[in-house]
Amino acid sequence: MRGIVKTFPGARALDGVDLEVRCGEVHCLLGQNGAGKSTLIKVLAGAHQPDEGTVLVDGEPVVLARPTDALRHGIATMYQELDVVDGLTVAENVYLGHELATAGFTQRRVAARRTRELMARLGHPEIRPRTEVGALSAAGKQIVSMARALSHDARVIVMDEPTAVLDSEEVENLFRVVAELTAAGIAVVYISHRLEEIRRVGDRLTVLKDGRTVATGLPVASTERAELIRLMTGRAVEYAIPRRPAPAAAAPVVLDVEGLELAGSFRDVSFTVRAGRSWASRAWSAPDARRSSSPCSAPGARRPGRFAWAAARCAPARWPVRSPRASGCAPRSARARA
Ligand SMILES: Nc1ncnc2c1ncn2[C@@H]1O[C@H](COP(=O)(O)OP(=O)(O)O)[C@@H](O)[C@H]1O
Ligand SMILES: [Mg+2]
Repeated sequence: MRGIVKTFPGARALDGVDLEVRCGEVHCLLGQNGAGKSTLIKVLAGAHQPDEGTVLVDGEPVVLARPTDALRHGIATMYQELDVVDGLTVAENVYLGHELATAGFTQRRVAARRTRELMARLGHPEIRPRTEVGALSAAGKQIVSMARALSHDARVIVMDEPTAVLDSEEVENLFRVVAELTAAGIAVVYISHRLEEIRRVGDRLTVLKDGRTVATGLPVASTERAELIRLMTGRAVEYAIPRRPAPAAAAPVVLDVEGLELAGSFRDVSFTVRAGRSWASRAWSAPDARRSSSPCSAPGARRPGRFAWAAARCAPARWPVRSPRASGCAPRSARARA
């Protein structure tokens, strides 16, 4: 893609973006929210028409006037907003818009068989072809979206923020599928703002900022995290994540948790929050804390430990704590923002 410009009323989403993707690589597209990542891949998918610029496939300029043009050139896209149809079955969604040539019953049987094969390849044989998509979780819907991309025999598969709806086990499965695709020579354009993920999955990367390419073709393995943050934000790390002064030792304790346990989810959780400080812990994304609810509202806590709010100790029998301020320690909201 060369010099792509796309303007919406009131927003210049892309202001001359370049992107070059090679066969068999995972090319990561990085940028803060609003940088133009989704708009760029919608141009590549034929869903948006660029105001300026050229898309080349195998070095030849192509016109992608509609999504079917992109698919014809082997470019399949999994959108950030999952574009599956709830009222249709899994197989109908996979073959939506490119129904098999044979008619009626035979076509449905072939579609069901191929869908079963695709689901097995994606590590989800439990997703049946005749299940209605509306009954699936967001992660399940994403698998259907990926099966649809694979059903097109694509040469380039674009994944826009694919892990946003996945838990850590499903992320591992996605990475396995990505490795399988690239080993078969398929290029994956992987969009994310999660640097750890990009480090694991990517080969090269392009960084967008305010609708412009600020770096392209960088090797993922040898590009420092601080450099990526600088490229994404335009600021050095110490400005992007300003250091806060240490809390005054005398600041009053507003929340004090000690030895909290929820059987099967977490144990021995202790922390203290002082007035005027924000508190966050990576522990909530650790595998053993996965799917756990906030310790403040842990309904199944067997050994609740000690929990004190604003220095007034709460008896376990009074849980869940209903104070609106208690939402400050809810891990789900923290993960959603992460
Ligand atoms: N359909 C649209 N209409 C108007 N503005 C849009 C539209 N789509 C995206 N934008 C704007 O274009 C910019 C880039 O958006 P987007 O491509 O979604 O960024 P990203 O995916 O990097 O978060 C943002 O300012 C966004 O508000
Ligand atoms: Mg986006």
